[in-house]
Amino acid sequence: MNPFLIQIPFFPEQASNFAFEIDLFYLFLFALTGFFTVLIGVAAVYFLIKYRRRSQGEVPEQIEGHLKLEIAWTVIPFVISMFIFAWGAKLYYQMYTDPKDALEIFVTGKQWMWRAQHPDGQREINELHVPLGRRVKLTMTSEDVIHSYYIPAFRTKTDVVPGRYTTSWFTPTKVGVYHLFCAEYCGTQHSGMIGKVIVTDYSDYQAWLRGVPREKSPAEAGQQLFTSLACNNCHLETGAGRGPSLQNLFGKDVKLANGATVKVDEAYLRESILNPGAKVVAGYTNDMPTFQGLVTEEQVAMIIQYIKSIGPRQGEAATTTPAPASAAPAPATQGVGRPAPAQTAKPAAPQGEQPKQD
Ligand code: CUA
Repeated sequence: MNPFLIQIPFFPEQASNFAFEIDLFYLFLFALTGFFTVLIGVAAVYFLIKYRRRSQGEVPEQIEGHLKLEIAWTVIPFVISMFIFAWGAKLYYQMYTDPKDALEIFVTGKQWMWRAQHPDGQREINELHVPLGRRVKLTMTSEDVIHSYYIPAFRTKTDVVPGRYTTSWFTPTKVGVYHLFCAEYCGTQHSGMIGKVIVTDYSDYQAWLRGVPREKSPAEAGQQLFTSLACNNCHLETGAGRGPSLQNLFGKDVKLANGATVKVDEAYLRESILNPGAKVVAGYTNDMPTFQGLVTEEQVAMIIQYIKSIGPRQGEAATTTPAPASAAPAPATQGVGRPAPAQTAKPAAPQGEQPKQD
């Protein structure tokens, strides 16, 4: 798969687009550290012997400093450490910039299991099926404490934090079954919070999806919650209700009562469901009750998917600027430029149609 580096013994397989370069980076750091350890160790022993005290009362030659030497040992480490910084920052930027056109899977951590839901509604526990060569983006949150979603073969590890969304992405590059670990101590069964990541060809992935009893898609389930929780009583489509209309909202900027402007993304919607008073829309009052404790994180995600599905269609979003790369969930371009899951027979296909990258 990579022509330069043989699989390092004792290392997990390299099964994602990031794996090779991260291993190369690691190997570079290891070699660099090894080189200087040996260099300094050998020099220390050599000088220890060469300049040992040969007689009682011996006074060594006094040295007053050496400008060239001092410049050398300042500049060389500076250049090396800046190189490490630049390479590491580049990798970090790649890993934490949301990819375009990724297959989006929603992951929830919970003491002590991993749940995943695919765009069409298929669920799985402690397993994650992903197609070979397609970008996969995980949007993750926790029902209780901090967990960490760790797939060693992909070289990806991302904290899964209650109260917010974190994301992680990768392109699987090798068919196989790989370990999934929780990498954050989360209670007595932490070590049992493990699972499998199953990478198959795209056709096998689709066959697997068909084989899983299809539940409602997240957007459909969200629509049902929207009605059963009576959200629709106030959030009328016309905007004449007690709450603002949610039609064509996702990805847009809205004016708040306090004069500020906020972009409607997943994090903002989530906050508005659980803490409605935090950012009240201009022209409305803080009437909405909190749904904290009434809905699970998965249900919040479903409602958000529903609101995304009634968001602007492709083309209408041209004016929205992409969100900056950050830990915040999906940039607006992802949510807006996508056909609504509820109205598409199989959203997985168009999302996954991208050829392999990296
Ligand atoms: Cu979950 Cu450790």
